[in-house]
Amino acid sequence: VLRALDKDLTQEDEDEGEEEEEENGADVIQFHPAFTYPIYGEHERVFGYKGLKIRLSYAAGSLATYVDVGCGKRIDEAETSVALRPDDIEGPLRKVLAAGAVCQTRTEFAQRVVHDTQTFRPVGRKVHEYQREEVYEIYEAGFASAEFRAYHQRMQTLVLLFIEGAQFIDDADERWLVYTVFERLDIGGAPSFTLVGFCTMYQFFSWPDRRRPRISQFLVLPPFQGQGHGSELYRYIHQAVRGNLDYTELTVEDPSEAFDDMRDRNDMRLLIDCAAFDGLEAPVSPSVLAELGSRFKISRRQITRCVEMGLLRRLG
Ligand code: ACO
Repeated sequence: VLRALDKDLTQEDEDEGEEEEEENGADVIQFHPAFTYPIYGEHERVFGYKGLKIRLSYAAGSLATYVDVGCGKRIDEAETSVALRPDDIEGPLRKVLAAGAVCQTRTEFAQRVVHDTQTFRPVGRKVHEYQREEVYEIYEAGFASAEFRAYHQRMQTLVLLFIEGAQFIDDADERWLVYTVFERLDIGGAPSFTLVGFCTMYQFFSWPDRRRPRISQFLVLPPFQGQGHGSELYRYIHQAVRGNLDYTELTVEDPSEAFDDMRDRNDMRLLIDCAAFDGLEAPVSPSVLAELGSRFKISRRQITRCVEMGLLRRLG
């Protein structure tokens, strides 16, 4: 992920290694994918190369993209009696990239990074802001906006690389809401945005006239993980759901262990702050669980877990 610091990003860089570095006038943060099987198959292997490096670069905010593949040796260059062909590297990768966002040359990409660092603005409605060392902003958008659909097509590749079992969602369906988190820096007096993470949320109908929101994909990019951004985004969404009479409870599709952990901690903090466990004794009746679930808009399974943890906490 690149953010321009000055205007010449066009030279070839030295090898990576550092997580964060300054490279030919750009702030570069490097990280590796957690999963590549959606692109290169279940064994996550490609055949026929020595010293293969696949480098997928993104402009930090706009997600303008550049693919750079390098290797020491290829099997079809080796002198063997059998003709062997190396696997295709770029084809499968390009299938999951937004075609319009991929720059053809390194020079074009470098120019886009400089341009976008200064001009890119998050798409959607700003709904929340919080501060750590820097300022972070949360935006809400839907697929009714063509501009956001185009942005989402760039962003969605990341779910394949970092969320196990994730698939692309149907961007023709306007019942999706997408929340994006951006770091906002002031560079030379102008704001510059870096994508931190995002969450897609589907609004199911809930009979007769309400909606049941379900978090589908939730991702904080690796350089920003473990710093509270996931919690900020989750808390914002939960609070927005609680504040909206149209919504029933907040549910989550197939949560990972790390997500469950983050959700437990945040739900427990909320319930403790609101004194939800005061006066509760085991066994807790289904009607009390139902009342707590509907008051806090927490799903049945999750409120049951939280109440159990709340009661156990007292024993500790
Ligand atoms: N394992 C165990 N605990 C964790 C992990 C983890 N991997 N990540 C965070 N936590 C804990 C932290 O200790 C923290 O506790 P604290 O609040 O008491 O300090 C709490 O969870 C929240 O941590 P945050 O910093 O807010 O979490 P983060 O910003 O890293 O976001 C998330 C968590 C979303 C799971 C992120 O790490 C991520 O995107 N991971 C990779 C992709 C993924 O698994 N996404 C969820 C898939 S499930 C779905 O999409 C519905």
